[in-house]
Amino acid sequence: MVKVRVPATTANLGPGYDILGLALKLYNTVEIEKADKLSIEIEGEGADSLPKDKSNIAYQAAQEVFKTVNGKPLTVNLKLINNIPLARGLGSSAAARIGALVATNRLMGDKLSQDEILKIAAGLEGHPDNVVPALMGGLTIAALKDNEVRFLKYSKVRSDLKVVVAIPDFKISTIEARKVLPKKVSLVDYVSSGSNILFTTAILTREGNPELLPELLSESMQDRVHQPYRKKLIPGMEDVFQAARMAGAQGVALSGSGSTIAAFSIGNNEEKNKEIGQAMVAAFQKAGHKSYYRILDIDREGAVCL
Ligand code: HSE
Repeated sequence: MVKVRVPATTANLGPGYDILGLALKLYNTVEIEKADKLSIEIEGEGADSLPKDKSNIAYQAAQEVFKTVNGKPLTVNLKLINNIPLARGLGSSAAARIGALVATNRLMGDKLSQDEILKIAAGLEGHPDNVVPALMGGLTIAALKDNEVRFLKYSKVRSDLKVVVAIPDFKISTIEARKVLPKKVSLVDYVSSGSNILFTTAILTREGNPELLPELLSESMQDRVHQPYRKKLIPGMEDVFQAARMAGAQGVALSGSGSTIAAFSIGNNEEKNKEIGQAMVAAFQKAGHKSYYRILDIDREGAVCL
């Protein structure tokens, strides 16, 4: 039996639509073993709602490994222990797929390389920004080039960074949230995104100049490419952003395609981090939605076999 722990992820980080991703210390585990009869057991998030048959996405990811390495499917026992909320923009599907791919690869003697795992995972997800940090940990920049995943991992994410996530009671389908986006962006929006991606990455990965840089984060995380179009899907989005900033968050962004909103808090101030979470929950409440917050550390390891 192989057991793998895999982190949640927050993608986009404002301007980095389909490019930036950050792994968070909130974990699912995937266990797999060969068996005579298929069985899929799920604990935690999705225990009652996720499929326990061949349509399960972790099962399907596992079969991709068997087909690639072995040429044919194999029967398995699969156990998913889920802590990452579903369809909330925290990478639950990327975690299921990466967890299953890494576990199955280990079961088959680690025949697939990291690049091959990422290629399968990004193919299944349709974009690479969650699967790369789920596998690698840390802050990542990812892109698909001719169906291959190219990525950079920043291992030095600021040690005083916490991500305060406010997770509301409604789900967002990433597929639906992509349909509301424009097909083209203007040159002005392109320049804004490019520079903001670079500034955001620099601020989150450098310890230097602590007085100045955190203050630039709010501006750097501004996005003109996806968030303005998605705010109609997220009641209270701008108020939650504002509440997080007023409570002291240096940056705030829609987590992936939502519905979670992620506030970036630099400075290891526990009291401030709680206030950010409470302010975001109160703002969601005003918009008519219950939510809860979690203060998360950055995961730097990615998927690991336990
Ligand atoms: N980058 C994707 C999106 C979500 O914003 O649609 C995360 O995979």
